[in-house]
Amino acid sequence: MRWGNAMTDETLAQRLELPRPDVTAEEAGDILQSRYGLSGQLSELGSQQDRNYRVDTGDQTYVLKICHMIYETVELEAQNAAIRHLAGIEGAPRVPRVVASTDGQDIVAVVVRDQTYQVRLLEYLEGEGLTKPSYLPRQSVAALGALCANLAKSLADFDHPGLDRNLQWDLRRAGPVAVQLLSAITDGAARDRIAKNMVAAVRRVQPFAPALRLQAVHHDVTGDNVVSRRDGKGRLIPDGVIDFGDIIRGWLVGDLAVTCASLLHQADGDPFFVLPAVKAYHEVYPLKEEELRALWPLVVARAVILVASSEQQISIDPENEYVRANLVLEQRIFDTAIAVPFDLMETAILKTAGIELPAVATEHWHPLLPDLDLQNMLYVDLGVESQHFAAGNWGQGDMDWRLLARAASEADAAATRYGEYRLSRARLLSAKPSATYALHADICLAAGNTIAAPFSGRISWQNHHLVLESADISLHLDGLDPSVEDGAELEAGRPLGAVSGEQGSLGGLRVQLSTPKGAEPPLFCTPQEVFAWSALCPSPAALLGKGVEAPKPVDAEILAVRTAHFAAAQKHYYETPPRIERGWKEHMFDVEGRAYLDMVNNVTILGHGHPRLADAVGEQWLRLNTNSRFHYAAVADLSERLAALVPEGLDTVFLVNSGSEANDLALRLAWAHTGARNMLSLLEAYHGWSVASDAVSTSIADNPQALTTRPDWVHPVAAPNTYRGEFRGPDSTGDYLQSVVAALELIDSGGERLAGFIAEPVYGNAGGIALPDGYLAAVYGQVRARGGVCIADEVQVGYGRLGHHFWGFEQQRVVPDIITVAKGMGNGHPLGAVITTRAIADSLEKEGYFFSSAGGSPVSSVVGITVLDIMADEALQQNAREIGDRLKGRLVALMDHHPLIGAVHGMGLYLGVEFVRDRATLEPATEETAAICARLLELGVIMQPTGDHLNVLKIKPPLCLAAESADFFADMLEKVLSEGW
Ligand SMILES: Cc1ncc(COP(=O)(O)O)c(C=O)c1O
Repeated sequence: MRWGNAMTDETLAQRLELPRPDVTAEEAGDILQSRYGLSGQLSELGSQQDRNYRVDTGDQTYVLKICHMIYETVELEAQNAAIRHLAGIEGAPRVPRVVASTDGQDIVAVVVRDQTYQVRLLEYLEGEGLTKPSYLPRQSVAALGALCANLAKSLADFDHPGLDRNLQWDLRRAGPVAVQLLSAITDGAARDRIAKNMVAAVRRVQPFAPALRLQAVHHDVTGDNVVSRRDGKGRLIPDGVIDFGDIIRGWLVGDLAVTCASLLHQADGDPFFVLPAVKAYHEVYPLKEEELRALWPLVVARAVILVASSEQQISIDPENEYVRANLVLEQRIFDTAIAVPFDLMETAILKTAGIELPAVATEHWHPLLPDLDLQNMLYVDLGVESQHFAAGNWGQGDMDWRLLARAASEADAAATRYGEYRLSRARLLSAKPSATYALHADICLAAGNTIAAPFSGRISWQNHHLVLESADISLHLDGLDPSVEDGAELEAGRPLGAVSGEQGSLGGLRVQLSTPKGAEPPLFCTPQEVFAWSALCPSPAALLGKGVEAPKPVDAEILAVRTAHFAAAQKHYYETPPRIERGWKEHMFDVEGRAYLDMVNNVTILGHGHPRLADAVGEQWLRLNTNSRFHYAAVADLSERLAALVPEGLDTVFLVNSGSEANDLALRLAWAHTGARNMLSLLEAYHGWSVASDAVSTSIADNPQALTTRPDWVHPVAAPNTYRGEFRGPDSTGDYLQSVVAALELIDSGGERLAGFIAEPVYGNAGGIALPDGYLAAVYGQVRARGGVCIADEVQVGYGRLGHHFWGFEQQRVVPDIITVAKGMGNGHPLGAVITTRAIADSLEKEGYFFSSAGGSPVSSVVGITVLDIMADEALQQNAREIGDRLKGRLVALMDHHPLIGAVHGMGLYLGVEFVRDRATLEPATEETAAICARLLELGVIMQPTGDHLNVLKIKPPLCLAAESADFFADMLEKVLSEGW
């Protein structure tokens, strides 16, 4: 059989026009009883041309398959034989067992209302399909590719006379089948588009067709026809196959094309989404180069057949809802399959399979700019880490060009770099990565400079765009006045024209190389496409000097260095973290120019890269930095400012470098002031890493051994979690107090005294849950009655983040004895403070002096003062309140449609979205939360789980968060939740 053969096969024509067998559930039940001796609940399963019923007998589940007589019995026998063959191969995918009728037959003929059908019964294979989610993680995609390969490999030596069939899905016949089906499509434009793509696909496969291997293939390994288990991270991993209805002797690569096409409806419009499946397939069952080259045209061919066949099926069986629903997905498959040029996908597939493409030889090329000494060309850094960029200036429309022109005025010429991930191209708040990678170079040089042909070729000249095309490469130029005619054949070294512009002025010349013929290549591509586009549009270094190539970012190598030398206990976010090298306001940028919305950086309250803070720090560094034993204004100023922020009586300040230090010092103050050692702390809390602050930290998310390793002076009390704690709701203070009283009585009964109590005034670790009403007042009362002091850890929740309050303790209407603060007060600079009464502070003097070398240094103090100034000038607490309220409203609204959200905690810009599998049992959705965070990263949002079950999104963005950023976050979360959890 040849590709594109004219088809006159009558049987195929008849098959194309078959509705499903007309057999009701009742009639199917009778068949089941009479031929298999079984009875049970029947429910219909979707199918295009068979009638399938799921049968539940109570202790077993089966699938009853009813098929038209037009399918020969030998074809059904081939299916059964393949299933038996696979069941006998170790390591082959799971398959359902064939169940014989009571008289021992695998296939029985039955007559229903004068029509004869062939009936089979199969065991129901347990597991989840892959089609429910509208998006799949790459691990699931790869697993489907591996499964497809494993299945094909296991069928390689399988043979049966029933494999040579007239099947509309056989991709060897895609062309003629499409022609036959197209007549059913009534929309002329759609029909033409489909036909045009089919012709293009057929043309591309033709040269490889003789080399494509034939064997028994399942030919329908799609999400509907596989069953999966979930891995430890909640991802679907397919490991079983059902529905052998399309098994044929066909092109091996056609089998993979079917699988790849099926994945495209879950690809979010990105054809590269299937590449992990191709890679995994090739690793298990290597494909030949010709097969790899034929793969994408076959994907397009399959997409055409899918769409055309469903349209046709609907025209003859309008009731078939299964087909109707599929058509929407198939249209998506088609649109995604044709969204990219064949050349690009072919290159991407070959490179994914590890096949390197030969580079075009450039050694004998003539100079492009013969008048210019390339030694005198400057190459301008426009990348993410460029020193030219600060405070968002890269967003000013013509910034790249201005930098280029400035550089050109300092040299003979200046060029932008090929292979640069341009910061100016990074779109903020974008679900998809931007096309940041430059596939060309722009040169700024004196107008009139001669431009010559580096190689011989033919000229095409259109709309100021000149192309010099040779057999293996084309040179694309813009910005010149050509001295050649359209269609001319030119020798290497001959003039092409001159740089446009008036004599004495600077002109701009755009240079790009490209191997595919015809189409104009894109100037930029996305980071994901670089490996393919950079092969098609090679570097112009041979024309413009080596310096025109931007250095490649080295993420993996740097991560390896980190792993080798940075202690492993200091974890990093994400399995494969993006390398973030720039921040601006609430946005972060990786080295490939992907912009992320930073929703977790509670430290950077002003936002990233604040120029006013940088200037203040820079100035102070140049003037003086020393320690607080010297007398200078800034330390006095900051101490006074902090004392003014807290209630009366708390007027004395210590300056340190971190939250851990602040809490450590607060504990020492409590000990020194009371002469006692026992401390009460809350369960599931985190207060720092230093020995004392760690002792009062009981969060098992931070330290799995926390509960069994606390020293005897630490007395943890029940976590007053009003959502999932022992007692629920805002009125649970009385209940939670019992745990406090019990701990205090234990201390009393041992004849010991109490030093104090430490707690966050809003329950931060669990996502910002408010403590029950009156809780702190009651506990503070008990503690003070025993002479203890009360420490409020405001490191996370304080300093304006709650929007409605500057300090967390205000929400509980109490005044602590000691306040600790850090994180946001330095906006990321190491700065912390303890604010307390003069009497408590003085107690420490009994134990000697307190000195922290950098605590309260001139630079640190200036940081603290400037942060407060900016917060006031930019009304950041107010912003936290307004944007926080808006965001909370959006998140709460999501609860109506997404039962996974159990609650939305917090206020201002300290929010927590808690995921549960069941709103009644509150079973934590830990794996789902991890998967949601991973998907949010793909969508450009940085988010991490928190809480002891790691099932809460900790939403703590910079306080400058804009309304559109809050909306983007809510939109992306909604998108992820709608993708099929
Ligand atoms: C509530 C709380 N207290 C103290 C600390 C410790 O602060 P640092 O990391 O600055 O030492 C943290 C840090 O996450 C915290 O969340």
